[in-house]
Amino acid sequence: MESKNTLSPFWAEKYKRESKKSWDKFYKRNETRFFRDRHWLDREFDIYFGLPDKRPLTLLEVGCGVGNLVYPLLEVQPNLKVYCCDFSPRAIEFVEKHEHFNESSVVPFVCDITEDRLDQWVPDGGVDTLTAIFVLSALPREKQQDAICNLSSVLSPKGHLVFRDYCDGDFAQEKFQQSSDPSLIDERTFVRQDGTISYFFVEDELNHWMESAGLRLISLDRVSRTVDNRKRNLSMDRTFLQGVWEKCR
Ligand SMILES: C[S@@+](CC[C@H](N)C(=O)[O-])C[C@H]1O[C@@H](n2cnc3c(N)ncnc32)[C@H](O)[C@@H]1O
Repeated sequence: MESKNTLSPFWAEKYKRESKKSWDKFYKRNETRFFRDRHWLDREFDIYFGLPDKRPLTLLEVGCGVGNLVYPLLEVQPNLKVYCCDFSPRAIEFVEKHEHFNESSVVPFVCDITEDRLDQWVPDGGVDTLTAIFVLSALPREKQQDAICNLSSVLSPKGHLVFRDYCDGDFAQEKFQQSSDPSLIDERTFVRQDGTISYFFVEDELNHWMESAGLRLISLDRVSRTVDNRKRNLSMDRTFLQGVWEKCR
């Protein structure tokens, strides 16, 4: 789709190339103030955070930011061993400086999931549950398949990948489409003013990438939430895709 706000190939490539720099600047500017703690995860996916035999469960949170998922989850599931990574060194510094950081339960590392093999950081037996929450949307479409294969490669047999992210048709996508600023890379990929990328997923394509990476679909739903933007005093009706896949080979 060509539209008046489509970026030239030069700028589109530049934003993709500089994504890591843009996210690191984001954390320099916002520090730990931007994202809210994600307390809903345990409520909605609780079965994926505890094992029946009570052995400590190994979790990997990719694109962990400053730990908005990691620390609230550890509060309710203290038995977890959490590996977490982000490609922004600044974000990882904030994870390490968190008041509840404890190196026996939290192992943060800097890693670009599109370039660095995850198996060099996580234990041999694999990861029981991997969370990818609003991180894959930060990748360009052409990097999704390889990145998802990288995630799948560290899951233990029958391990689970838990996903929530932006969905095609969401309010934010409409806003991008209506804006007169050049922000469009392709039909479902946009660049925010701060240079970070936002991809909007559709079910069939996402599931195809997951299945090609050796994952079997357990559930995939559109969920609607009213999200408040405190800074701009706005309430927005958002639509996300939320799913779980199981490692089958
Ligand atoms: C929208 S934030 C979500 C943070 C966290 N998952 C949460 O739910 O609060 C997206 C995060 O993904 C990270 N990220 C983006 N692309 C990445 C990549 N290729 N490898 C690792 N992390 C990445 C960004 O630095 C950012 O911290």
